[in-house]
Amino acid sequence: MNLGKRITTLSMVFTVALGWAMVVQAAGNPEAGEAQAAACGACHGQDGASPIDPTYPHLAGQNEKYLLNQLKMIQDDTRYIPLMAGQLLGKSEQDLADLAAYYANMPVKISQATGDDEAIARAESIYRAGIARKGVAACAACHSPAGKGNAQAGFPNIAGQPAAYTIAQLTAYRERTRQSDEAYGGMMRGVAEGLTDTEIALLADYLQGLN
Ligand code: HEC
Ligand code: HEC
Repeated sequence: MNLGKRITTLSMVFTVALGWAMVVQAAGNPEAGEAQAAACGACHGQDGASPIDPTYPHLAGQNEKYLLNQLKMIQDDTRYIPLMAGQLLGKSEQDLADLAAYYANMPVKISQATGDDEAIARAESIYRAGIARKGVAACAACHSPAGKGNAQAGFPNIAGQPAAYTIAQLTAYRERTRQSDEAYGGMMRGVAEGLTDTEIALLADYLQGLN
């Protein structure tokens, strides 16, 4: 085996991988995003965290990678959102990256859990440790102990979202009606399959106040 040749091949692989990573992370420009965001504010709130309906999500402070990924899936109807029909029509990938950067730079808004001590303790236990007997993984493992997610991996921040939105999403993963790519969507379908309606409601209430 020719060592010199092997090193050359390896460094070529690295160069290609690096180039690919740079293309994938098409840097978004928050100012260019702001210029497009007035229409979005009509539903998500001008601060990106005051939705006009509790089943609509906060976008402010969500990580850029997750936002861009969702925007692409909403645009091509992989994640079908009837209310957003037409909203992303004609936008380029750079436009979507700019919108993602704009919302990622805005401050997260946390509200408060409404459950009693027992409800919060039950939710916290599932959040931190999962439910071993049902094979439900600990939410904290992927979404971090404070719910902030993992920006590098593109795992979403789930803290502060209105409970009604979180209930709808966890139910949709469980019923397999929220579409995503196999890898990311598969992780959440696997987790949500083991949750009852009651557990989903407890978690959703706990998450709106988590920080
Ligand atoms: C007419 C109301 C409406 C408008 C206008 C609107 N959205 Fe939405 N958006 C929604 C609703 C409703 C959902 C959640 C649907 C669901 O999955 O239950 C959503 C979901 C999202 C999500 C997914 C968030 C997450 O946490 O997964 C993103 C990102 C998003 N919208 C971005 C935008 C952007 C950017 C614009 C402006 C270009 C916009 N929206 C305009 C109603 C709207
Ligand atoms: C193995 C990693 C992993 C675990 C464990 C996990 N999640 Fe997730 N979660 C993800 C990923 C990845 C996504 C984005 C999936 C997609 O693209 O649709 C996500 C999405 C979500 C969303 C939708 C966010 C939004 O803005 O629409 C909610 C809510 C959520 N997770 C809650 C939970 C809860 C509650 C638990 C624990 C019971 C949990 N997750 C456990 C990885 C995980």
